[in-house]
Amino acid sequence: MTLKAQLESLRDETFEKIQKVADLKELNQIRVEILGKKGPITEVLRGMKELPAEERPVVGSFANEIRDYLAQAVENRKEVLEQAALDAALEKETLDVTLPGKQTPQGSRHILSQVMEEIEDIFVGMGYQIVEGYEVEADHYNFERMNLPKDHPARDMQDTFYISDEILIRTHTSPVQARTMEKHDFSKGALRMISPGKVFRRDTDDATHSHQFHQIEGLVIDKEITMGDLKGTLEVVMKKMFGEDRNIRLRPSYFPFTEPSVEVDVSCFKCGGSGCNVCKHTGWIEILGAGMVHPDVLQMSGIDPTEYSGFAFGLGPDRVAMLRYGVNDIRSFYQNDLRFLNQFKVKE
Ligand code: DAH
Repeated sequence: MTLKAQLESLRDETFEKIQKVADLKELNQIRVEILGKKGPITEVLRGMKELPAEERPVVGSFANEIRDYLAQAVENRKEVLEQAALDAALEKETLDVTLPGKQTPQGSRHILSQVMEEIEDIFVGMGYQIVEGYEVEADHYNFERMNLPKDHPARDMQDTFYISDEILIRTHTSPVQARTMEKHDFSKGALRMISPGKVFRRDTDDATHSHQFHQIEGLVIDKEITMGDLKGTLEVVMKKMFGEDRNIRLRPSYFPFTEPSVEVDVSCFKCGGSGCNVCKHTGWIEILGAGMVHPDVLQMSGIDPTEYSGFAFGLGPDRVAMLRYGVNDIRSFYQNDLRFLNQFKVKE
């Protein structure tokens, strides 16, 4: 076989190999093998000195031609393979942006927290400070300082869980009144506070009772605070909570820590006062207990009742939420059933 024929068959075989190769690594191997320094073409070029002088340029240029031809074939094949790899990757890694995404479940504030924060906002807007009390409280603050000495019959209404004879989990948020009063510096102005939180009672749970529920205590002490201030304040708050058309009415009541004491009713937000199932056909909804702070309670907290007076109130946010959202079982708030809770989901 002539050298030319050898080169031609090398070209054709290699070209075919290049066309068949499906892998970039293998393609590179072929390139090194055939076109590299130790490859057959280099060999031919090197062996040229053996050839008669007139054949050298012919063979040389033919060998170079073949080398360029094959180098180009490698290059072309490389492009084809790279494109194919890219196409395959694009195909495999397709992202369909129209598919529904994976949802990360997100929590939301509990409905009672929402109601309490709404009420807090109303009072903060009126210049009240928010005070946190203790859930584990001394009998002294929970009862005695609230004018409920040991063996006072009104204690019976608020039986609770005792940790020791003197320590209990609080039955109401009223002890925060005493704790705040004894610390307040009246040279800096009036005391206006609310205190939201959990309270506990030894109750049998049913649709309207829970051994754990919430209260928001309110207290204002200053010189010349009157029942008119109490009524005016609560009227503003009830209008903000239940609508501008609401009225309130005060009925005489009894609490050991206030004198006089009242129950406060708000005109029904559902029927406007004409009577419906929410207000049990009375037109009024009982919403909180309140009164003028008892002089003995002031005195026990180191405040002179001849100089200062004040009002207090206790509001039940669980009841507010039940009324407003038509929840007929208080236990729903504490059972953590997502089907219930998710109805009150808010975007945070
Ligand atoms: N502490 C009372 C209770 O739990 C509620 C209450 C009534 C609080 C009248 C007050 C008030 O501050 O003035 O039943």
